[in-house]
Amino acid sequence: MSRKKIGVIGGGFVGSTTAQRIAEKELGDVVLVDIVEGMPQGKALDIFEAGPVYGYDSVVTGANDYAPLAGADCVVITAGMPRKPGMDRSDLLKVNGEIMRSVVSGIMEVAPEAFLVVVSNPLDVMCFVAHEISGLPRNKVIGMAGVLDTARYRSFIGEALDVSVKDVQAMVLGGHGDSMVPLASTASVSGIPITQLLSKEEIDKLIDRTRHGGAEIVNLLKTGSAYYAPSASAVAMVESIVRDQRRILPCCTRLDGEYGIDATWVGVPVVLGANGVERIIELELDPSDAEALKTSASAVKSGQDEVAGMLSIT
Ligand code: NAI
Ligand code: 2OP
Repeated sequence: MSRKKIGVIGGGFVGSTTAQRIAEKELGDVVLVDIVEGMPQGKALDIFEAGPVYGYDSVVTGANDYAPLAGADCVVITAGMPRKPGMDRSDLLKVNGEIMRSVVSGIMEVAPEAFLVVVSNPLDVMCFVAHEISGLPRNKVIGMAGVLDTARYRSFIGEALDVSVKDVQAMVLGGHGDSMVPLASTASVSGIPITQLLSKEEIDKLIDRTRHGGAEIVNLLKTGSAYYAPSASAVAMVESIVRDQRRILPCCTRLDGEYGIDATWVGVPVVLGANGVERIIELELDPSDAEALKTSASAVKSGQDEVAGMLSIT
């Protein structure tokens, strides 16, 4: 069986750690692409040279164009601009929407069969752009946010109970922002519902911390945002696809009627396998969670409509 080829677009913090983790797990050979001359080549060479020491033989190369991505099986998109002084939310939406359009067009020219794992923010709206520009079916465009938000929630639950985070299972739905919906009803530790282990007040605090998990890291770092947990999350998704693991992971996908939500990209549990999103799992939600999911989805839909106007996507 030939090796998989996995692209990573954007060689910044998330992109370079994603490339490193893919190489370390030997999920395939990696092509790291960025617009900065020499940077993806240098980082790729550095990761490749760690192989003999760490014990992997993935080939890692860098490029400033898309030709080396020819025939890629899966591409992780982390290219984007952070918000700069003087830019408002709409300015950022336009800048990153245009970056997403050019990146996805470049990928599709050489790797039209690739699965796209979108990481760039604003995540849910960027998935919409990637889907519209690529023309791919919805199962092939998958957004990373829920795995990260859920990892944060699981970490906080484990910490609060002073137990291994490995035994904590949970699910965060919705858009990647303050309106995300960490579920209390389905969270458990080794099969024990957290509602039997923690009070409602304690759970509410963990949910609130999860909702602001990205900002908590930004406030500590002062410049830049999280990348260790984000890259681990994106790679878990890549692994589930290229190894056909069929894991159930919360991913951003296009809902076409599921959960009573239409033509909108939001996080819900999906089975992730060799066909990308193999199926969407529709949970029976508490009425307040169902309402919160709809509110979150309508915020994403406004962003989708706004960016569609800006980029003349019909
Ligand atoms: P970064 O600033 O370190 O890296 C971004 C890279 O994209 C830079 O190296 C830049 O040169 C590159 N880039 C810009 N335009 C490009 C283009 N047209 N083609 C190729 N490369 C291009 O940022 P970082 O920390 O790596 O974050 C990347 C993105 O991921 C950001 O949008 C960030 O908000 C998002 N993010 C999303 C998360 C999620 O849960 N979905 C979690 C963490 C980050
Ligand atoms: C995060 O949640 C910035 O979206 C990024 O860390």
